[in-house]
Amino acid sequence: MRLGVNIDHVATLRQALRGRYPDPVAAAAMAELGGAEQITLHVREDRRHVNDRDLQILRQTVNGTLNLEMAAVQPMLDLCLQVRPDTCTLVPERREELTTEGGLDVAGRREDIKRVSRALRDAGVEVSLFIDPDLEQIKASVRADAQAVELHTGRYCEARTDKERARELARIAEGAKSAAKLGLRVAAGHGLDYWNVRPVCRIAEITELNIGYSIVCRAVLTGMEKAVRDMKELIG
Ligand code: PXP
Repeated sequence: MRLGVNIDHVATLRQALRGRYPDPVAAAAMAELGGAEQITLHVREDRRHVNDRDLQILRQTVNGTLNLEMAAVQPMLDLCLQVRPDTCTLVPERREELTTEGGLDVAGRREDIKRVSRALRDAGVEVSLFIDPDLEQIKASVRADAQAVELHTGRYCEARTDKERARELARIAEGAKSAAKLGLRVAAGHGLDYWNVRPVCRIAEITELNIGYSIVCRAVLTGMEKAVRDMKELIG
């Protein structure tokens, strides 16, 4: 299973004080040292966390694959074609949302998405679509010329009962099977953490997970003791 580490929330911390640190570029290098095969980042239209400077430097420094998440709109397409990440994951984007909420409505926006997909593929960028594990969206993704899909695991992660969780996991498993059968590479992500990730790993067709928030949160806590010791040493 490939792990893509999403470094957006390192940039969220930096932007809280509009400072120079923590630098998502440094976090990406450390994530790679920890074994991440991919660095994922979502450059939002409002640049609320990760910005163009981060993307440009990461393109030069990431050793594994670089996966840019973005909205399927012309200004983002222009940026992506200029930077040329290895993969571009098209996601829905609403300004008010705290994080990406639902999957992309590929079935409803097929021509639009196909146009962006084609331009990316022509430039040698792999196209992945972030969709709900829904057969209609999977078929639409093939018709929109995508090479991969990332199945949205949010509903599974937010399930409150065992029954609901099992139902959402089954939807993901069925979606993964259908997508793989149609020739798509299958990734998954959103809301995955140290408690809910294992059942998703057991789905054979899913070969990549993109995980951000839970890893950044754990890094804050596992690094706290050393960070305090370093400061104590400094101040004597
Ligand atoms: N995959 C996609 C397409 C996303 O939009 C996000 C959130 O930015 C993630 C994965 C990572 O989600 P989380 O931060 O909840 O692990």
